Amino acid sequence: MIRAYLPRVSGTFLGSLAPLPERLCPNVEDCLGSGTLLLERAGIETARLDVECLLADVLASTRWQVILEPRRRLTQAEFGRYLALLERRERREPLAYLLGTREFWSLPLAVSSGVLIPRPETETLVEASLAILRRAPPQPPAPSPQPPVILDLCTGTGAVAVALARELPAARIIATDISRRALRMARTNAERHGVADRVTFLRGDLWRALDGHAPANGVDLVVSNPPYIPSGTLATLMPEVQWEPRRALDGGRDGLQFHREIIATVPQHLRPGGFLLLEIGADQAAAVAGLLAPTGAFEGPRVFQDLAGRDRVVVARRTILH
Ligand SMILES: C[S@@+](CC[C@H](N)C(=O)[O-])C[C@H]1O[C@@H](n2cnc3c(N)ncnc32)[C@H](O)[C@@H]1O
Repeated sequence: MIRAYLPRVSGTFLGSLAPLPERLCPNVEDCLGSGTLLLERAGIETARLDVECLLADVLASTRWQVILEPRRRLTQAEFGRYLALLERRERREPLAYLLGTREFWSLPLAVSSGVLIPRPETETLVEASLAILRRAPPQPPAPSPQPPVILDLCTGTGAVAVALARELPAARIIATDISRRALRMARTNAERHGVADRVTFLRGDLWRALDGHAPANGVDLVVSNPPYIPSGTLATLMPEVQWEPRRALDGGRDGLQFHREIIATVPQHLRPGGFLLLEIGADQAAAVAGLLAPTGAFEGPRVFQDLAGRDRVVVARRTILH
């Protein structure tokens, strides 16, 4: 609790949530100094950056503007809001939930509690999809090159679906999730980025979302970042992750429950010559390759690495029947 151990920092009383008289409200410099100390004590490595972001949010400004005005005094209302946010962050609530936004593929996306925060490594899924479509645009069995039809299973905030729709102005995207809240957020993000007219949102348990809506000729690309953390590992992850919905993370005993279900059914929905792209945990590539091989329905697989050099996406091509 803030009031417990930050009564005085930089000469400013930052320990009370009671309204302070305006003239006693601290300035930006004091807020940054004391807030950083508080979050450092809570074990947050990015304490200074987080405090700058929170203060910028409170002041409806940018981080840089905040830093450039160290003497700016907060109003009572601003200070109250800052303390409330700081206290939530101290309890390790993710910064993205406090700010209500997270950047993905250089697009600001709306996020809120109850929906997984998109991760930078998931951009590998977008990169691999674009690399594939630019090298092998959809053709057979279509008579002429057609705009791609892409299925994003487990879309969450719609991060992958929206990024692909922005990059591929003719593509049609089907985005599914079991969570109503996630789909609402995904729709908001698609509208915000001007692609909602090309994205169809369907709710349901994995493939069941497509019941009655599956494209007759199958889709060209199936992308998915399904839950893939082994159930037993979840409790060992960072405190921030514990605020995210378990249903978005828990991949069952070995983490591969969703990969198994996706691989078993994808041949019914992916056209011959189409591609399946699955995000994986860094140590899951061999196991996922082991799930693909016995189906006899795929060529490959190929593994893409994320920016940290870790295995992140498995790509397999549906065999073309002659
Ligand atoms: C790891 S998150 C990925 C979200 C988003 N694609 C991203 O990369 O940021 C997994 C998503 O799968 C959804 N999900 C969990 N179980 C599901 C199921 N049985 N059917 C469909 N979606 C499911 C969760 O609601 C969550 O949004």
